[in-house]
Amino acid sequence: SDIEKGTYPHYMLKEIDEQPAVLRKIIQAYQDDNGNLTIDPAILTALKEADRLYIIAAGTSYHAGLVGKEYFEKIAGIPVEVHISSEFGYNIPLLSKKPLFIFITQSGETADSRQVLVKVKKMGYPSLTVTNVQGSTLSREADHTLLLHAGPEIAVASTKAYVAQIAVLAIAATVFAESQALPVGFDLTQELGIVANAVQAMVDAKDEMEQIARDFLEVTRNAFFIGRQLDYHVSLEGALKLKEISYIQAEGFAGGELKHGTIALIEEGTPVFALATQEEVSLNIRGNVKEVVARGANPCIISMAGLDEEGDTLVIPHVHPLLTPLVSVVPLQLISYYASLHRGCDVDKPRNLAKSVTVE
Ligand code: AGP
Repeated sequence: SDIEKGTYPHYMLKEIDEQPAVLRKIIQAYQDDNGNLTIDPAILTALKEADRLYIIAAGTSYHAGLVGKEYFEKIAGIPVEVHISSEFGYNIPLLSKKPLFIFITQSGETADSRQVLVKVKKMGYPSLTVTNVQGSTLSREADHTLLLHAGPEIAVASTKAYVAQIAVLAIAATVFAESQALPVGFDLTQELGIVANAVQAMVDAKDEMEQIARDFLEVTRNAFFIGRQLDYHVSLEGALKLKEISYIQAEGFAGGELKHGTIALIEEGTPVFALATQEEVSLNIRGNVKEVVARGANPCIISMAGLDEEGDTLVIPHVHPLLTPLVSVVPLQLISYYASLHRGCDVDKPRNLAKSVTVE
């Protein structure tokens, strides 16, 4: 397995680096002979017949599902609920008349997600699994599968699978919209190509990320991640990454929630990672940064070209506003990686965690 790791000190770093190639692989895998994006027609039919999608997932895959909801609602016009699999399994909410269940799972083996699939199948509902592992349990047991084409993910902390999940969900939502002659308004193949280049720019800026880890996370015992709209979903993922591999207590939350409680935790020097890639909420998140700075926080502002301001810590290249999670997550992955490394933690195999959780 050291051979597979090649010259990389850790699988996680290798897998972060693979992300531009994974995005290009996905574009290829979902292209037809004419270069148009396409998905299995049976899945298009299942989406057309559904009056509501129920996305079921755990951990990082759940965070990808939160982004996927925005795609299916905004691009494809289908209402979506996103649920944590362990909660859903024991407390099934009132369902719509024609639900389609979408399981997002890198491994395809997560027990919490599988028990939901078993239940909804018994109830007679159709299902789709979005997974990295062909032939995995959730892929075999669902009616349909969309593959991530990310290649084996070995590090416990999921990186390239998250990016692949979001890209595949964007493709599914867009191809469906096009099949229904809904106005999409952008060329997803082209936009994902731009994203792949932006991700490359981020993985090439490792020194900068390592410095950010030193400047913001060297001595702290906690950290906060804030964002609004799509940036909120990414802030949840950024906090999870940092927690699981560096053991720094981290919390991701919506910028607007600060004043409802969390701001009480801000002290002199508390690191606050603020994502500012969404134009609509740009002023509001900038306002949140001012609020935490006034209470002594050490703000790391990650914005996007075109929305950047003087003093921002990092500016990601400009990409389509719906696709920013694919890029903004990359610096957060790298910052977590270096924080873990600097603390001497086991990056690839953090304590108490397994790659796939096969118990409920
Ligand atoms: C991600 O970094 C975690 N290790 C974990 O949250 C993971 O995403 C979760 O266990 C779900 O796994 P799955 O995608 O294989 O179902």
